[in-house]
Amino acid sequence: MPISIVAGNWKMNTTIVEAAALASSMVGDLEEVNGVEVVICPPFVSLAVVAEVLRGSSVALGAQNMHHEVKGAFTGEVSPSMLATICQFVILGHSERRQFFAESDESVNRKIQAAQRVGLRPIVCVGEQLEEREAGRAEQVVAGQLRAGLEGVARVEGLVVAYEPIWAIGTGMAATPEIADGMMAHVRGVLSSVYGPEQASDVPLLYGGSVKPDNVDEFMELPNVNGALVGGASLDSASFVAIAHSAAEASS
Ligand code: 13P
Repeated sequence: MPISIVAGNWKMNTTIVEAAALASSMVGDLEEVNGVEVVICPPFVSLAVVAEVLRGSSVALGAQNMHHEVKGAFTGEVSPSMLATICQFVILGHSERRQFFAESDESVNRKIQAAQRVGLRPIVCVGEQLEEREAGRAEQVVAGQLRAGLEGVARVEGLVVAYEPIWAIGTGMAATPEIADGMMAHVRGVLSSVYGPEQASDVPLLYGGSVKPDNVDEFMELPNVNGALVGGASLDSASFVAIAHSAAEASS
């Protein structure tokens, strides 16, 4: 079983000062969480200052996106090598990027490969829309995103997959444990068909979508779930620490 991961995606929230304060308010308590890898993903402009706050701690740093090229004339973009000097993780293909910034599976694919080249661990997000679920196409959509995203990706080393059903993000309506576990088993099956069962079993699978302190246990006890990708609740120090503790207890 892979080591569980609890990652906080702060999305487009916090100024630099607020980010430093939020990270400072949780790093001490997060340090006491054993057996789970904890990751904080603040906005780009706050990565450097949060890296300072986390320095010497067991809490890892992640970015929320990146460009796939190493450098060049790509105004406004941030490259893998820029991130690799301070981050360990990068969230790729989040549904908000797919929805609002026309991120395609092909683009996610280029980014995964670029992340691996510089030693960043990609947290690859997949998930279906409500209409797709209602039409009985959820598994097909997720498998399609995964296969296209991983096209030509030779190794799973460092790879993390987050299943975030779009209808569960920021809605307070988390997936049921049955839906989450069923989809995770499906994701594991797809990974297994591409990389073989042994390699596939090493990939941490995170559930994301309205994870809160009072429902995280339901997900963490599922056989196919190895952690959580947390949005809103990661902006509250006490909530995020509680989620990390629950994940640690469930995986001990
Ligand atoms: P919420 O936890 O706010 O639903 O967000 C989930 C998410 O999108 C994390 O990447």
